[in-house]
Amino acid sequence: MALSVAKCPSSSAAARLAPDHSPPRWSTLLRPFPRTVLAGSVAVPSSKNWNLGVACKQEVGTVAASSPKEAPSKNVEIGGLLGLSSEEYRDVIGPNSSEREPTVSITVVGASGDLAKKKIFPALFALYYEDCLPKHFTIFGYARSKMTDAELRTMVSKTLTCRIDKRENCNEKMEQFLQRCFYHSGQYESEENFADLDKELKEHEGGRLSNRLFYLSIPPNIFIDVVKSASKSASSKNGWTRVIVEKPFGRDSESSAALTRGLKQYLDEDQIFRIDHYLGKELVENLSILRFSNLVFEPLWSRQYIRNVQLIFSEDFGTEGRGGYFDNYGIIRDIMQNHLLQILALFAMETPVSLDAEDIRNEKVKVLRSMKPLQLENVVIGQYRSHTKGGVAYPGYTDDKTVPKGSLTPTFAAAALFIDNARWDGVPFLMKAGKALETRRTEIRVQFRHVPGNLYKRSFGTDLDRATNELVIRVQPDEAIYLKINNKIPGLGMRLDRSNLNLLYASRYSKEIPDAYERLLLDAIEGERRLFIRSDELDAAWELFTPLLKELEEKKIAPELYPYGSCGPAGAHYLAANYNVRWGDTASDA
Ligand code: BG6
Repeated sequence: MALSVAKCPSSSAAARLAPDHSPPRWSTLLRPFPRTVLAGSVAVPSSKNWNLGVACKQEVGTVAASSPKEAPSKNVEIGGLLGLSSEEYRDVIGPNSSEREPTVSITVVGASGDLAKKKIFPALFALYYEDCLPKHFTIFGYARSKMTDAELRTMVSKTLTCRIDKRENCNEKMEQFLQRCFYHSGQYESEENFADLDKELKEHEGGRLSNRLFYLSIPPNIFIDVVKSASKSASSKNGWTRVIVEKPFGRDSESSAALTRGLKQYLDEDQIFRIDHYLGKELVENLSILRFSNLVFEPLWSRQYIRNVQLIFSEDFGTEGRGGYFDNYGIIRDIMQNHLLQILALFAMETPVSLDAEDIRNEKVKVLRSMKPLQLENVVIGQYRSHTKGGVAYPGYTDDKTVPKGSLTPTFAAAALFIDNARWDGVPFLMKAGKALETRRTEIRVQFRHVPGNLYKRSFGTDLDRATNELVIRVQPDEAIYLKINNKIPGLGMRLDRSNLNLLYASRYSKEIPDAYERLLLDAIEGERRLFIRSDELDAAWELFTPLLKELEEKKIAPELYPYGSCGPAGAHYLAANYNVRWGDTASDA
């Protein structure tokens, strides 16, 4: 078994480690077809989607077998093809082998929005650049505004960047990529406009097997309209249709359940890819590897050795330009209920039966459902106020014109959460998330217990906390994993200090770390659901936070003000102190 989880490109060292018999990844594109149809000419994919060491392949000459797990999609008329012999199948889709090659059409709904421009198109280009997109693919932008293909291309080209290691042919690749991008203007609720899109998609698909991915980069209040129109008028007739949805998935349990019900009128759960882009971040993905493939960590991963776990998100900028959206959600819904909670679930889950998406998500959901209800006294909220530093005046949250005066929406929150199970009983999981703070960072900190009967305790004076080990997984920026250990300072005396065993990614790996959206888009194209949120996970996440959010809003709890660019409200320190914890990020040797 190759240890590397290389997706692409085939030239990477990781790909070279891949066994020769690895199935082509693009074989998975043909999953909706039954094995019987394709017998004889197929490359059989592994039954598990989490391929180890398999590189992306640009071309697929053969048709692959279906995964027995993928159910036919709603509104996808594949029933007529099931059970056909190869000859009958050829009669239906045409004699040329090229017609049996799959195409992928990716439609970015809300193409002129910020997310599409800044993240989705650049991620698609990066995948193209790394040879991770299939041979036949087309990208469509869909939005209400009128735009020509050329205008879309100009807009998209402004945010494309090249991977450092392949700069030489960047412009050429960009040009090739842009030629595969098209634009279709239409209303979001119009079945007719989506039917027109369908016609255009068909032209590009040229009679080949059609797989379609819709990325909803639009406000949630129009999700259902779009899904309805797209599924009725523009879903694939002979391949798969998948839909990526972006948060917010509702504001609380009720609205989230209503959204799920609405989506499920037109889509099966298997077709819905709820994206939480933090799950696509390299170090979050690495969490399970760190834990389950290193003997030194897993035995320590419990209340017996871990004193507390800290999940920290901080940004050094405010809600500039996004006040309108943010004020309706606040930091708890924006960051804690999804990004930080997802990390917590991955961190704390039991060993899954396998790396299969359902096995992993089953374990995550168990953690979420084992969480103790969140009490108001275990939560601190804050809001940034204006502050002048070095002659520069930084605005407060409510100075933003799009934010209502007197808004009580928190831009900072800290919370102590507990998992009521045998592994984690009594261990505080401390979360902290804030905007307009001193630094930008996301990290997971694991503080271990004191060494019992420590022979060297005199060398640490009274501050025994300084002598405990701490494992830090720095998700961003400057990705790193380091472990704080006690060490003797070289010399004839006996002085100890705390040093880091340090894995700094930039020093260890020359390859640029892909953006989270690249990984997630590729997974969605491949039908890999491991990093997407299942509806029961979402329900459990809302169940945990909804009562607290309601209480905060009903009681109109005022957030503690903190200056823009500071380390946040003092209340966060008192909260941690209640559990004899110090936030690791505020230590002098953080
Ligand atoms: C988004 C939040 O989900 O994540 C934003 O809505 C936040 O408020 C962003 O700024 C942070 O993402 P990243 O990848 O830049 O850390």
